[in-house]
Amino acid sequence: MRIGVLGVGSLAEYLIRGAEAVEFVLSPRSAERVARLGCEVAGSNQELVDECDAVLVCLPAATGLEVVRGLRFRAGQTVCSAMAGVSLAALRGAVGPAQGVVAMMPGYANAYGMGPSLLYPADPFWAGFLGHVGPVHAFDTAEGFEVAAVMGAMSGATVFLMRHLAGWFAGRGLDPALARQLVAEVLRGNAEVLLRSQEDLDAITAGVTTPGGITEQLVAVLRDRGALGAWDEAMDAVLARMGLRPDLDVA
Ligand SMILES: NC(=O)c1ccc[n+]([C@@H]2O[C@H](COP(=O)([O-])OP(=O)(O)OC[C@H]3O[C@@H](n4cnc5c(N)ncnc54)[C@H](OP(=O)(O)O)[C@@H]3O)[C@@H](O)[C@H]2O)c1
Repeated sequence: MRIGVLGVGSLAEYLIRGAEAVEFVLSPRSAERVARLGCEVAGSNQELVDECDAVLVCLPAATGLEVVRGLRFRAGQTVCSAMAGVSLAALRGAVGPAQGVVAMMPGYANAYGMGPSLLYPADPFWAGFLGHVGPVHAFDTAEGFEVAAVMGAMSGATVFLMRHLAGWFAGRGLDPALARQLVAEVLRGNAEVLLRSQEDLDAITAGVTTPGGITEQLVAVLRDRGALGAWDEAMDAVLARMGLRPDLDVA
């Protein structure tokens, strides 16, 4: 498997580190990072597109589509965009006559093969690639993909949450390394419960909440202060920015 990568920033590095079995050709900017990754480097973005049958676009979301529009693709090529908020229709309009698919993933977790990827529409080649960096979920509608893609922001926000929680423990005297480990182990343990238990979420929640106990006390304060409801508001705002439009379902 040989893939050309346009835009070698944080996401590209995570994916390249996670997919050790894949051969990559990189776009020539970001010299320091490109040198560190030790992959083949194309002479220009156009040379990369000319050389590779499969192209992964990890360019900045704000400007990347314009960069892609300025390149010439050919029939028989396949292009996967990981740019947040770039629709399938917009990507296909930019890369035709090449085929296009859109994807979303958490990023850093993919470097450890633990990041779930979303793919729209289903595509055996790109599912095979993304399978190197975590589980893959394919979608057959734009609506389903766009809602699920808010996971990209949710993932980053949970890292902020974990830093905040570790900071609370450390700020009250716990060794910072232990605070970090404790937060990670607690969340990883609870994530395993969701993946392994057959119980529904209400039953799991009831099971971990002793009436009159400390979980009930903590959650009551969070709820009173709007901390849980704020997640809905924030994720709705990201979804609106993703530009969900039913007419973009072109699969
Ligand atoms: N970071 C994540 O975990 C993550 C997760 C999911 C999706 N994404 C998506 O992935 C994309 C990249 O995000 P990122 O966090 O990796 O951003 P980033 O670190 O800023 O990387 C973007 C890279 O694109 C390069 N670039 C900009 N214009 C270019 C051009 N014309 N030709 C070639 N390279 C060019 C930049 O090079 P210079 O440094 O030289 O400007 C930079 O290395 C975004 O669209 C984002 O929505 C990111």
